[in-house]
Amino acid sequence: MKKLGILISGSGTNLQAIIDNVESKYIPAEISVVISNNPNAYGLIRAKNKNIPTAVINHREYSSREDFEKKLIEVLDSYNIDFVILAGFMRILTKFFINHYKNRILNIHPALLPSFPGVDAQKQAFDYGVKFSGCTVHFVTEEVDHGPIVIQAVVPVLQNDTVESLRKRILEKEHIIFPLAIKMLVENRLIIRGNKVIWDSEIENLKDIYIINPYISKNGY
Ligand code: GRF
Repeated sequence: MKKLGILISGSGTNLQAIIDNVESKYIPAEISVVISNNPNAYGLIRAKNKNIPTAVINHREYSSREDFEKKLIEVLDSYNIDFVILAGFMRILTKFFINHYKNRILNIHPALLPSFPGVDAQKQAFDYGVKFSGCTVHFVTEEVDHGPIVIQAVVPVLQNDTVESLRKRILEKEHIIFPLAIKMLVENRLIIRGNKVIWDSEIENLKDIYIINPYISKNGY
């Protein structure tokens, strides 16, 4: 069984989606530890409710990013984790951390990268006036929000949307594509070639991708 270390900062709805999909065995992996930099993150309670080990590593208690990341690595390695999952983790990681888990870190971003990287992506997209936004799961590289893209889901921006309603519609898609990407990752079915991720199509065809494409989905737009 592959071991996941999940980093969070907040409410942890993506964490919950991962927990549910591990429980149902859709994701054949174990969540070894959930770490939050924020001691008040509700995600910690979600993990505790399922008896998943948790740790708080508060970045404010460390004088440098490297010291903070050293502690993260120490705890993650103590659980022998195979992959690091950033599920709403709101700290930028440096190459010190990223190189330690090269090609083994996935992040979810609430916009269609490479558009609207950084914080408040939903508001950036909303304010810009795009007609479609969405979410992206990607491997983490040194350049923030720029690593190889695993999967994206498209979400329409409706006339009467607010940032909040858009955020909610994007989040629903996050909860579908993140578990799917993690499943593919732990099953060793993702191949990184340059900046592209190729899905191993020998084992399963690519129909899973279209399920989340609103043009094709029967429940879609
Ligand atoms: C999500 O929108 C995620 O894309 C972003 O932070 C948010 C985390 O939400 N990186 P949650 O804590 O999983 O509910």
